[in-house]
Amino acid sequence: MSLATRYLGLELRNPIVASASPLSQDVAGVVALASAGVGAVVLPSLMEEVVRQREVDDFLEVARHEDAFGEATTYFPEPLLDEVDGVGQYLTLVREAAAAVDVPVIASLNGASLGGWTSIASQLAAAGAAAIELNIYAVPGDLSMTGASIEARHVEILRQVRGAVDVPVAVKLSPYFSNTGIVARDLVAAGADGLVLFNRFLQPDINPVTMSVEPGVYLSRPEDGRLPRAWIAVLRNEIGGASLAATGGAWSAGDVAKGLLAGADVVMVASALLEHGVGVVGEMLEGLQAWLAGTGLGLDRVRGALAVPAGDSAEATQRAGYVEALASARARWGDLGHL
Ligand SMILES: Cc1cc2nc3c(=O)[nH]c(=O)nc-3n(C[C@H](O)[C@H](O)[C@H](O)COP(=O)(O)O)c2cc1C
Repeated sequence: MSLATRYLGLELRNPIVASASPLSQDVAGVVALASAGVGAVVLPSLMEEVVRQREVDDFLEVARHEDAFGEATTYFPEPLLDEVDGVGQYLTLVREAAAAVDVPVIASLNGASLGGWTSIASQLAAAGAAAIELNIYAVPGDLSMTGASIEARHVEILRQVRGAVDVPVAVKLSPYFSNTGIVARDLVAAGADGLVLFNRFLQPDINPVTMSVEPGVYLSRPEDGRLPRAWIAVLRNEIGGASLAATGGAWSAGDVAKGLLAGADVVMVASALLEHGVGVVGEMLEGLQAWLAGTGLGLDRVRGALAVPAGDSAEATQRAGYVEALASARARWGDLGHL
Protein backbone atom coordinates (compact mmCIF):
# COMPACT_ATOMS: atom_id res chain seq x y z
CA MET A 1 0.00 0.00 0.00
CA SER A 2 1.35 3.43 -0.85
CA LEU A 3 2.67 5.47 2.02
CA ALA A 4 3.21 8.55 -0.15
CA THR A 5 2.53 11.64 1.88
CA ARG A 6 2.23 15.34 1.30
CA TYR A 7 3.78 17.50 4.01
CA LEU A 8 4.23 21.29 3.74
CA GLY A 9 3.52 20.89 0.04
CA LEU A 10 6.48 18.50 -0.28
CA GLU A 11 6.03 15.00 -1.66
CA LEU A 12 7.39 12.42 0.81
CA ARG A 13 7.68 8.69 0.21
CA ASN A 14 6.20 7.98 3.65
CA PRO A 15 4.99 9.82 6.76
CA ILE A 16 7.92 9.01 9.06
CA VAL A 17 10.21 12.00 9.45
CA ALA A 18 13.50 12.14 11.35
CA SER A 19 12.97 14.91 13.87
CA ALA A 20 15.71 17.41 14.70
CA SER A 21 18.35 15.62 16.77
CA PRO A 22 22.09 15.00 16.83
CA LEU A 23 21.54 12.11 14.39
CA SER A 24 21.28 14.61 11.54
CA GLN A 25 24.11 16.86 12.64
CA ASP A 26 26.42 15.69 9.86
CA VAL A 27 26.04 14.53 6.29
CA ALA A 28 26.80 10.89 7.18
CA GLY A 29 23.98 10.96 9.70
CA VAL A 30 21.53 12.43 7.21
CA VAL A 31 22.52 9.81 4.63
CA ALA A 32 22.06 7.04 7.23
CA LEU A 33 18.56 8.32 8.07
CA ALA A 34 17.58 8.58 4.40
CA SER A 35 18.96 5.08 3.73
CA ALA A 36 16.99 3.78 6.70
CA GLY A 37 13.85 4.91 4.89
CA VAL A 38 12.57 8.14 6.45
CA GLY A 39 10.39 10.40 4.32
CA ALA A 40 12.31 13.56 5.23
CA VAL A 41 15.04 14.70 7.58
CA VAL A 42 14.96 17.70 9.88
CA LEU A 43 18.40 19.04 10.79
CA PRO A 44 19.24 20.03 14.37
CA SER A 45 18.45 23.65 15.10
CA LEU A 46 20.56 26.61 14.19
CA MET A 47 20.21 28.77 17.27
CA GLU A 48 19.35 32.45 17.25
CA GLU A 49 22.36 33.08 19.51
CA VAL A 50 24.72 31.65 16.89
CA VAL A 51 23.22 33.83 14.17
CA ARG A 52 23.47 36.90 16.38
CA GLN A 53 27.09 36.08 17.12
CA ARG A 54 27.81 36.03 13.40
CA GLU A 55 26.16 39.45 13.05
CA VAL A 56 28.53 40.79 15.72
CA ASP A 57 31.52 39.16 14.01
CA ASP A 58 30.51 40.58 10.63
CA PHE A 59 30.15 44.03 12.12
CA LEU A 60 33.57 43.84 13.74
CA GLU A 61 35.11 42.55 10.55
CA VAL A 62 33.75 45.49 8.59
CA ALA A 63 34.78 47.90 11.33
CA ARG A 64 38.29 46.48 11.35
CA HIS A 65 38.64 46.89 7.61
CA GLU A 66 37.29 50.39 7.67
CA ASP A 67 39.53 51.07 10.64
CA ALA A 68 36.84 53.44 11.75
CA PHE A 69 35.73 51.88 14.99
CA GLY A 70 38.99 51.17 16.74
CA GLU A 71 37.42 51.23 20.14
CA ALA A 72 34.59 48.96 19.14
CA THR A 73 36.97 46.29 17.90
CA THR A 74 38.82 46.19 21.17
CA TYR A 75 35.63 46.17 23.19
CA PHE A 76 35.00 42.49 22.48
CA PRO A 77 37.50 39.96 23.78
CA GLU A 78 39.65 38.38 21.05
CA PRO A 79 38.59 34.74 21.58
CA LEU A 80 35.06 35.72 20.64
CA LEU A 81 36.25 36.91 17.26
CA ASP A 82 38.08 33.64 16.69
CA GLU A 83 35.10 31.45 17.45
CA VAL A 84 34.19 28.93 14.80
CA ASP A 85 31.50 30.32 12.55
CA GLY A 86 28.51 28.20 13.45
CA VAL A 87 26.35 29.73 10.74
CA GLY A 88 28.85 28.86 8.02
CA GLN A 89 29.06 25.30 9.31
CA TYR A 90 25.30 25.00 9.33
CA LEU A 91 24.94 26.35 5.79
CA THR A 92 27.55 23.84 4.64
CA LEU A 93 25.60 21.06 6.33
CA VAL A 94 22.37 22.12 4.60
CA ARG A 95 24.11 22.34 1.20
CA GLU A 96 25.92 19.01 1.47
CA ALA A 97 23.05 17.10 3.07
CA ALA A 98 20.54 18.33 0.49
CA ALA A 99 22.88 17.24 -2.30
CA ALA A 100 23.58 13.85 -0.70
CA VAL A 101 20.04 12.50 -0.26
CA ASP A 102 16.91 12.28 -2.36
CA VAL A 103 14.49 13.07 0.46
CA PRO A 104 13.68 16.63 1.55
CA VAL A 105 16.11 18.13 4.05
CA ILE A 106 14.40 20.59 6.37
CA ALA A 107 16.50 23.21 8.15
CA SER A 108 15.56 24.13 11.69
CA LEU A 109 15.84 27.63 13.06
CA ASN A 110 15.45 28.04 16.80
CA GLY A 111 14.87 31.32 18.55
CA ALA A 112 12.64 33.29 20.84
CA SER A 113 13.06 36.97 20.15
CA LEU A 114 12.36 39.43 17.38
CA GLY A 115 15.23 40.69 15.31
CA GLY A 116 17.27 40.53 12.16
CA TRP A 117 18.53 37.01 12.96
CA THR A 118 15.43 35.60 11.25
CA SER A 119 16.62 36.78 7.83
CA ILE A 120 19.17 33.94 7.90
CA ALA A 121 16.24 31.79 6.76
CA SER A 122 16.80 33.03 3.20
CA GLN A 123 20.36 31.68 3.24
CA LEU A 124 19.12 28.33 4.53
CA ALA A 125 16.67 28.14 1.65
CA ALA A 126 19.32 29.21 -0.87
CA ALA A 127 21.61 26.47 0.49
CA GLY A 128 19.00 23.85 -0.42
CA ALA A 129 16.65 23.52 2.54
CA ALA A 130 13.35 22.18 1.22
CA ALA A 131 11.54 23.92 4.07
CA ILE A 132 12.25 25.77 7.30
CA GLU A 133 11.10 24.43 10.64
CA LEU A 134 10.93 27.42 12.93
CA ASN A 135 11.27 26.33 16.51
CA ILE A 136 10.06 29.16 18.70
CA TYR A 137 11.53 28.22 22.04
CA ALA A 138 10.54 30.70 24.68
CA VAL A 139 11.79 29.51 28.04
CA PRO A 140 9.47 30.41 30.90
CA GLY A 141 10.73 32.88 33.42
CA ASP A 142 9.99 36.40 32.23
CA LEU A 143 7.22 37.57 34.54
CA SER A 144 6.91 40.92 32.82
CA MET A 145 5.43 39.57 29.58
CA THR A 146 1.74 38.91 29.32
CA GLY A 147 0.39 35.80 27.61
CA ALA A 148 -0.98 37.94 24.80
CA SER A 149 2.39 39.56 24.12
CA ILE A 150 4.17 36.18 24.08
CA GLU A 151 1.62 34.92 21.55
CA ALA A 152 1.92 38.07 19.43
CA ARG A 153 5.69 37.65 19.40
CA HIS A 154 5.32 34.08 18.10
CA VAL A 155 3.25 35.36 15.21
CA GLU A 156 5.68 38.21 14.52
CA ILE A 157 8.73 35.89 14.45
CA LEU A 158 6.86 33.64 12.01
CA ARG A 159 5.99 36.65 9.83
CA GLN A 160 9.64 37.67 9.67
CA VAL A 161 10.78 34.22 8.59
CA ARG A 162 7.83 33.79 6.23
CA GLY A 163 8.73 37.10 4.62
CA ALA A 164 12.34 36.04 4.13
CA VAL A 165 11.76 32.81 2.17
CA ASP A 166 9.71 31.23 -0.59
CA VAL A 167 10.08 27.68 0.73
CA PRO A 168 7.44 26.33 3.12
CA VAL A 169 7.71 27.26 6.79
CA ALA A 170 6.49 25.10 9.65
CA VAL A 171 6.35 26.32 13.24
CA LYS A 172 7.34 24.01 16.06
CA LEU A 173 5.71 25.34 19.18
CA SER A 174 5.23 24.49 22.80
CA PRO A 175 1.92 23.34 24.27
CA TYR A 176 2.13 25.84 27.11
CA PHE A 177 -0.40 28.49 26.14
CA SER A 178 -3.70 29.20 27.81
CA ASN A 179 -5.26 28.33 24.45
CA THR A 180 -2.78 26.55 22.24
CA GLY A 181 -5.42 26.15 19.55
CA ILE A 182 -5.80 29.90 19.05
CA VAL A 183 -2.04 30.35 18.78
CA ALA A 184 -1.96 27.54 16.23
CA ARG A 185 -4.73 29.11 14.20
CA ASP A 186 -3.10 32.56 14.34
CA LEU A 187 0.19 31.13 13.11
CA VAL A 188 -1.51 29.45 10.16
CA ALA A 189 -3.41 32.66 9.40
CA ALA A 190 -0.07 34.53 9.45
CA GLY A 191 1.37 32.19 6.81
CA ALA A 192 2.65 29.03 8.52
CA ASP A 193 2.44 26.13 6.07
CA GLY A 194 2.38 23.67 8.93
CA LEU A 195 2.67 23.15 12.66
CA VAL A 196 4.94 20.75 14.49
CA LEU A 197 3.39 19.73 17.78
CA PHE A 198 5.14 19.94 20.19
CA ASN A 199 8.43 21.28 21.23
CA ARG A 200 9.87 19.57 24.29
CA PHE A 201 10.78 21.94 27.06
CA LEU A 202 13.90 20.35 28.49
CA GLN A 203 13.19 20.92 32.14
CA PRO A 204 16.23 21.16 34.38
CA ASP A 205 16.17 19.17 37.59
CA ILE A 206 17.54 19.62 41.07
CA ASN A 207 20.19 17.31 42.44
CA PRO A 208 19.63 17.13 46.21
CA VAL A 209 23.06 15.59 46.83
CA THR A 210 25.11 18.27 45.08
CA MET A 211 22.39 20.84 45.81
CA SER A 212 22.63 22.15 42.27
CA VAL A 213 20.41 22.66 39.26
CA GLU A 214 21.21 20.21 36.50
CA PRO A 215 20.20 20.84 32.91
CA GLY A 216 19.60 17.69 30.97
CA VAL A 217 18.47 16.17 27.73
CA TYR A 218 16.38 13.08 28.24
CA LEU A 219 14.52 10.83 25.87
CA SER A 220 10.75 10.72 25.54
CA ARG A 221 8.34 7.94 26.51
CA PRO A 222 5.45 6.68 24.39
CA GLU A 223 2.95 8.41 26.73
CA ASP A 224 4.41 11.75 25.64
CA GLY A 225 2.56 11.29 22.37
CA ARG A 226 -0.83 11.77 24.00
CA LEU A 227 -0.73 15.55 24.31
CA PRO A 228 0.36 16.25 20.71
CA ARG A 229 -2.23 13.75 19.46
CA ALA A 230 -4.98 15.43 21.47
CA TRP A 231 -4.18 18.82 19.93
CA ILE A 232 -3.72 17.40 16.46
CA ALA A 233 -7.14 15.78 16.70
CA VAL A 234 -8.60 19.14 17.70
CA LEU A 235 -6.80 21.16 15.04
CA ARG A 236 -7.02 18.79 12.07
CA ASN A 237 -10.31 20.16 10.84
CA GLU A 238 -9.76 23.70 12.07
CA ILE A 239 -6.69 24.89 10.19
CA GLY A 240 -7.63 24.38 6.56
CA GLY A 241 -4.97 22.75 4.43
CA ALA A 242 -2.01 23.47 6.72
CA SER A 243 0.12 20.45 7.56
CA LEU A 244 0.40 18.90 10.99
CA ALA A 245 3.40 16.98 12.31
CA ALA A 246 3.25 14.99 15.52
CA THR A 247 6.46 14.91 17.50
CA GLY A 248 6.92 13.27 20.87
CA GLY A 249 6.72 9.68 22.00
CA ALA A 250 6.75 7.84 18.66
CA TRP A 251 8.57 4.61 19.52
CA SER A 252 6.70 2.06 17.40
CA ALA A 253 4.54 1.59 14.32
CA GLY A 254 1.55 1.71 16.65
CA ASP A 255 2.55 5.18 17.81
CA VAL A 256 2.86 6.29 14.18
CA ALA A 257 -0.59 4.85 13.43
CA LYS A 258 -2.05 6.75 16.39
CA GLY A 259 -0.58 10.02 15.15
CA LEU A 260 -2.03 9.48 11.68
CA LEU A 261 -5.46 8.56 13.07
CA ALA A 262 -5.43 11.77 15.12
CA GLY A 263 -4.81 13.68 11.90
CA ALA A 264 -1.05 14.13 11.61
CA ASP A 265 0.33 14.31 8.10
CA VAL A 266 3.65 13.06 9.36
CA VAL A 267 4.96 11.59 12.58
CA MET A 268 8.42 12.64 13.65
CA VAL A 269 10.86 10.43 15.51
CA ALA A 270 13.97 11.28 17.52
CA SER A 271 14.26 9.43 20.86
CA ALA A 272 13.56 5.96 19.45
CA LEU A 273 16.26 6.47 16.82
CA LEU A 274 18.75 7.73 19.36
CA GLU A 275 18.02 4.78 21.67
CA HIS A 276 17.72 1.92 19.17
CA GLY A 277 19.46 3.20 16.04
CA VAL A 278 18.13 4.14 12.63
CA GLY A 279 17.08 0.54 11.92
CA VAL A 280 13.92 1.33 13.89
CA VAL A 281 12.63 3.21 10.83
CA GLY A 282 12.44 -0.01 8.81
CA GLU A 283 10.54 -1.76 11.61
CA MET A 284 8.12 1.16 11.86
CA LEU A 285 7.51 1.18 8.12
CA GLU A 286 6.90 -2.57 8.07
CA GLY A 287 4.57 -2.34 11.04
CA LEU A 288 2.72 0.57 9.46
CA GLN A 289 2.23 -1.37 6.23
CA ALA A 290 0.97 -4.40 8.17
CA TRP A 291 -1.44 -2.26 10.17
CA LEU A 292 -2.75 -0.51 7.08
CA ALA A 293 -3.23 -3.84 5.32
CA GLY A 294 -5.18 -5.03 8.36
CA THR A 295 -7.48 -2.03 8.22
CA GLY A 296 -8.04 -2.54 4.50
CA LEU A 297 -7.91 1.25 4.18
CA GLY A 298 -5.50 3.57 2.43
CA LEU A 299 -3.42 6.15 4.23
CA ASP A 300 -5.80 8.92 3.19
CA ARG A 301 -8.73 7.13 4.80
CA VAL A 302 -7.08 6.51 8.15
CA ARG A 303 -5.45 9.93 8.41
CA GLY A 304 -7.61 12.04 10.66
CA ALA A 305 -10.22 9.30 11.06
CA LEU A 306 -10.25 10.01 14.80
CA ALA A 307 -9.88 13.79 14.56
CA VAL A 308 -12.60 15.93 16.10
CA PRO A 309 -15.10 16.38 13.25
CA ALA A 310 -15.48 19.90 11.87
CA GLY A 311 -18.16 21.76 13.78
CA ASP A 312 -18.02 19.46 16.84
CA SER A 313 -17.05 20.89 20.18
CA ALA A 314 -13.52 19.74 20.91
CA GLU A 315 -13.98 20.79 24.51
CA ALA A 316 -17.02 18.58 24.92
CA THR A 317 -15.19 15.67 23.26
CA GLN A 318 -12.14 16.03 25.50
CA ARG A 319 -14.29 16.62 28.57
CA ALA A 320 -16.29 13.49 27.81
CA GLY A 321 -13.05 11.52 27.52
CA TYR A 322 -11.84 12.97 30.83
CA VAL A 323 -15.06 12.13 32.65
CA GLU A 324 -15.02 8.63 31.18
CA ALA A 325 -11.38 8.13 32.19
CA LEU A 326 -12.14 9.13 35.77
CA ALA A 327 -15.19 6.88 35.86
CA SER A 328 -13.11 3.89 34.78
CA ALA A 329 -10.40 4.85 37.31
CA ARG A 330 -13.04 4.88 40.05
CA ALA A 331 -14.23 1.45 38.97
CA ARG A 332 -10.66 0.19 39.24
CA TRP A 333 -9.27 1.97 42.29
CA GLY A 334 -12.38 3.08 44.15
CA ASP A 335 -13.46 6.62 44.94
CA LEU A 336 -10.84 9.21 43.95
CA GLY A 337 -11.93 11.73 46.58
CA HIS A 338 -11.90 15.29 45.31
CA LEU A 339 -11.49 14.15 41.71
C1 LIG B 1 19.19 14.86 22.03
C2 LIG B 1 18.08 15.66 21.41
C3 LIG B 1 18.37 16.80 20.66
C4 LIG B 1 17.35 17.55 20.09
N1 LIG B 1 17.65 18.65 19.36
C5 LIG B 1 16.64 19.38 18.80
C6 LIG B 1 16.93 20.52 18.01
O1 LIG B 1 18.08 20.89 17.77
N2 LIG B 1 15.88 21.22 17.52
C7 LIG B 1 14.58 20.86 17.74
O2 LIG B 1 13.66 21.52 17.26
N3 LIG B 1 14.29 19.76 18.46
C8 LIG B 1 15.29 19.03 19.00
N4 LIG B 1 14.98 17.92 19.74
C9 LIG B 1 13.58 17.55 19.92
C10 LIG B 1 13.19 16.46 18.93
O3 LIG B 1 13.30 16.92 17.60
C11 LIG B 1 11.76 15.97 19.16
O4 LIG B 1 10.84 17.00 18.85
C12 LIG B 1 11.50 15.53 20.58
O5 LIG B 1 12.60 14.80 21.11
C13 LIG B 1 10.25 14.67 20.68
O6 LIG B 1 10.32 13.57 19.83
P1 LIG B 1 10.76 12.10 20.35
O7 LIG B 1 9.79 11.70 21.39
O8 LIG B 1 10.70 11.24 19.13
O9 LIG B 1 12.14 12.24 20.91
C14 LIG B 1 16.00 17.16 20.29
C15 LIG B 1 15.72 16.01 21.03
C16 LIG B 1 16.73 15.26 21.59
C17 LIG B 1 16.39 14.02 22.38
